[in-house]
Amino acid sequence: MTTVVPFIDLVADWQPLKDEVLARVARLFEHGQFIMGPEVQELQRRLEVDCGVAHALTCSSGTMALQLALMALDIGPGDEVIVPAFTFAAPIEAILLQGATPVLADIHSDTLNLDVESCARLIGPRTRAIIAVSLFGQPADFDALNALARQHGLKVIEDAAQSYGATLHGRRSGSLADIGCTSFFPTKPFGGAGEGGALFTDDALLAQRIREARDHGQSAKYLHSSLGTNGRLDALSCCALLVALERLPEQLARRQLIAQRYDQGLAAASGRLRRQDILPAASSVYAQYVVLLEGRDRLAKHLRGAGVQVAVHYPTPAHQQPAFAARCRYEALPNSEQASRQVLCLPLYPTLNDDAQQRVINVLLDGLQC
Ligand SMILES: Cc1ncc(COP(=O)(O)O)c(C=O)c1O
Repeated sequence: MTTVVPFIDLVADWQPLKDEVLARVARLFEHGQFIMGPEVQELQRRLEVDCGVAHALTCSSGTMALQLALMALDIGPGDEVIVPAFTFAAPIEAILLQGATPVLADIHSDTLNLDVESCARLIGPRTRAIIAVSLFGQPADFDALNALARQHGLKVIEDAAQSYGATLHGRRSGSLADIGCTSFFPTKPFGGAGEGGALFTDDALLAQRIREARDHGQSAKYLHSSLGTNGRLDALSCCALLVALERLPEQLARRQLIAQRYDQGLAAASGRLRRQDILPAASSVYAQYVVLLEGRDRLAKHLRGAGVQVAVHYPTPAHQQPAFAARCRYEALPNSEQASRQVLCLPLYPTLNDDAQQRVINVLLDGLQC
């Protein structure tokens, strides 16, 4: 019988944390403040310290975080927001849901993050902001992006859904732009036990706008000063996240160690496949361990056939998606198209053991010979 190596294993990852989470849940049911109660406040205070920002605001998902960020910046119809074409759909949806136009920039072929020169070419009179996704766990090049934005009077939002815990020059992902957004979707490096997200900023005015937008635009009870929504995170989710946050350094160190082992184990195949380059000033938390190669689909089939579960993030760039294509402005996107054809994500999660990982490496190297 073939031994299966799963792509992720949330049951195993949560096993050591489960009792502590349940103890917190029991306390929550004693006080009953399920919405915006003490757990939410505690998580926000802890995130501020952990991420190194003045204001952390939790919300109901990473997608909601991006939409709240755009609402706080008053971005709407007639405005354009630059965003990478090779990404998960959420930032593009958030822009469109605000009635603004996504402008799709290409990615850098080595880092797979937003290409700054492509962004610069796309800036026009209606451009208001850039959403830079820190893809697969590595911060985008915020030195260059923030400098470009300053030059043109634009705001920068970091989509740190996949990179919470990573650093650039020692500063934490989430704190690298005007507003940082993250997701607590269970498979993320800082995942919870349900939906959830957060925003980070040092700007007190933006923080106040986000706070209002997430709670129906209320500046006081039943005084709706601006248009808002219900974007709140529930206290039940916070119980799991408070425990996960304590263990995060350990979990991220495991991810980095596993990534290093892949680097070493696959070094011999570097002529046949590429990996995502990590900027010298950055660290990655490896939301995904990615290899890129011609013949990706054939290798994926070989791995799956041998019981190694792999994934393709993302097979179709935004300008080729039926829901987005006609609603976006973009230039030629060769690197995004190439990444969509070539990218393959290998199993990586904190409880992946050495034997299982070695099996992934062996099967992959074997597949390259065929
Ligand atoms: C880059 C990126 N942005 C945003 C999101 C949206 O997060 P959520 O699923 O919590 O809405 C995700 C999650 O899948 C993501 O990968």
